[in-house]
Formats: sequence, C-alpha cells, structure tokens
Amino acid sequence: MIQSVDAIQFSEYGGPEVLSFHKFHLAAPGKGEIQIRHAAIGMNFIDIYHRKGVFGPKLPLPAIPGVEGVGEVVALGADVSGFTVGDRVAYVGGPPGGYATHRNLPAARALHVPAGLASETVAASIFKGLTAEYLTHRCVSLGPDDTVLLHAAAGGVGSFASQWLKALGVTVIGTVSTEEKVRSARAHGCDYVILYGRDDFREEVMRITDGKGVRAVYDSVGADTFTRSLDCLQPRGTLVSFGESSGPVEPLAISTLGAKGSLYLTRPSIAHYTADRVEYEAAAERLFSAIRDKVVTVEEPLTYPLANAAQAHADLEARRTAGSVILLP
Ligand SMILES: NC(=O)c1ccc[n+]([C@@H]2O[C@H](COP(=O)([O-])OP(=O)(O)OC[C@H]3O[C@@H](n4cnc5c(N)ncnc54)[C@H](OP(=O)(O)O)[C@@H]3O)[C@@H](O)[C@H]2O)c1
Repeated sequence: MIQSVDAIQFSEYGGPEVLSFHKFHLAAPGKGEIQIRHAAIGMNFIDIYHRKGVFGPKLPLPAIPGVEGVGEVVALGADVSGFTVGDRVAYVGGPPGGYATHRNLPAARALHVPAGLASETVAASIFKGLTAEYLTHRCVSLGPDDTVLLHAAAGGVGSFASQWLKALGVTVIGTVSTEEKVRSARAHGCDYVILYGRDDFREEVMRITDGKGVRAVYDSVGADTFTRSLDCLQPRGTLVSFGESSGPVEPLAISTLGAKGSLYLTRPSIAHYTADRVEYEAAAERLFSAIRDKVVTVEEPLTYPLANAAQAHADLEARRTAGSVILLP
C-alpha cells in the first residue's frame, strides 16, 4: 500500500524556519516494519538538535524529524510478529521520521499501548517518561536519605523526573528560569526550587544541604551549568549529564573528578537504556503502571497542529514551554 502523507521536513540545517510542510508518498512497510497512522506525535529537544545538525551524526538531508509517536498500525511488512492491523502502538527512538501523518517503523521499536490511556497522554509521556524512568531508577541508585539537584525541573523530562524522585522518597532541589515555572516545579514535587538565572545555584544548594552537597545532579542544560553542577556534589556523588539545551559541554580533565571528591560522571542516552527489547518493555510497563497508579501524573500537554511544528520548535527553544509538547496530525 502506498500512502499519501503530510510531513514536516528540512532540507538544510538551521533555525525553526528550515521546517516546511510537504506531501509525499510513503512506500509499503519493508521487512520487519509496521506502518503507523499517527494519532499524536511527541516533540523533544533532540528534534531541535537534529534540525540544527548538532549532537551525534547529522541526519542525511532532506530529513523528517521526530523520534516519538503513538498511533494505529495500518499495514504490516514481511516477518512481523506480535502486531496486527488496528493495534494501537507507541515508540521512542530512531529512526527519525515522526513528524508525519504516517510512517514506517521497525516493529522492534513499537510498544503496545494499554487501553484507557489517551493517545495525547501517551505522546506526552513516552519519551520523557522513559527517560525519567532510566534516569531515576537505573542510572543512579537513590533512596530517602538522598538529595539531588535537577536542572530544568519544570521542563518535559524534568516534570516526570521530579515526580518519580519524590515517589522514591528523594529530596529534590529543582532549578527553573521563571516564577511561573517555580510553581510548576513545586507542583511536581520539588522540595526546593532555585531561580538559576537570578541566584547562584551552587550557593543555594550548599545552603539547603548545610554544606554537604547533593548525591546526584541531573544536568540537561549543559554548557551553562555543567562546571558549576560538579561543585554541588558531595564526595563520591554522581553527575548525570544527559543533555545540552544551552549548548555542548566543554571537554573535562578526568583529574577534575578526583580533585572535586572522587566524583562519578555519566553521559547516558535513552538509546542504550532501551536497546534491549526486554528492558524496553519493562521500562514501558513501569511507566504505564506509574501513570495508572498516579505515581506520575501526566499534565495536559501543550499542543500544536503538525503544520505549525516550526512555531513549536521556536517556543521550546526560547524556553517558553513547560511540561510536554505534542504535535497533532
Ligand atoms: N540523554 C537522554 O536520554 C535524553 C532523553 C530525552 C531528553 N534529553 C535531554 O533532556 C533535556 C530536556 O528535554 P525536553 O525535551 O524535556 O525539553 P525541556 O526540558 O522541556 O526544555 C528544555 C528546558 O531547558 C531549560 N534551558 C536552560 N537553558 C536553556 C537554553 N539556553 N535554551 C533552551 N532551554 C534552556 C529551559 O528550562 P528553564 O526555562 O526552566 O531554564 C527549557 O524549558 C534536553 O537537553 C534533552 O536533550 C536527554
């Protein structure tokens, strides 16, 4: 079956203006692939890195961004088992190609979606929620005796991570840029919230922890915060550097980790925490259960029509959004 598809594409790397709306024909799904008609598409900061051509291998041009979505299976390629036409599925990770009404996807990346969860809720939560799942449960082992610093606490991943950390009994110090985001971070369980554009977050963390420092820092901001994040850790603490919303982190001399207190540093990616099918399904089950049991609440996402993806990118990049952003085809 060949589908006529509407999609957002870019033919050069650059700002939001390089995104444009196109119609094209999508071939039938290949071996091991399923074809999905999207109900909702998740938008993530990684889509901005892809559009700019920064971080990791550049996408070959022209490219369709988008690594997260939910929809209905409309066709099956050869050698696909476990899925049938009409199933509702979600996915995270590559290959990109999600900003489209339809797409082909390796069946190995598709997850069955439990009944009772709205597609918008799933699109708002699967990528950010699975990221928060591995960050809070599998990257660092944390419990009620621990305090952590979480940058961009009111953002997409931040909103999930703060709720899950709170559920683990961890004391959470969040950073945000505006008073409105302070309220959002508090509502998601942050015990303390620092306006990092106004106050020195190192001083605030030391004040809050009586000079001890925190057990872990979750830093997705990168260039603007990385070095100061190291200064917030207690001896043998862990810096989880998982993003670069403000730009890439400068190279670091390993000896710095020793000098600052036998610190651990990890630069994790969701790709490596969901590559194994058993781990991927277990993580999704943990997320869906947490949503069902209200351990994690999914806020109403900010929605844009797929055709307005450029505006959605501009808003996410300019820090005008809080929580999750989704595109509706
Ligand atoms: N490694 C992984 O597996 C993985 C997976 C998913 C996402 N991530 C990373 O996690 C981060 C959050 O992703 P998200 O999609 O949920 O985005 P998001 O947190 O909703 O948006 C990014 C936030 O970062 C903060 N920020 C600080 N400096 C910034 C700057 N110069 N420009 C833009 N934003 C800035 C802003 O919050 P304030 O206004 O409060 O400062 C902004 O809202 C991204 O860095 C992303 O790459 C990593």
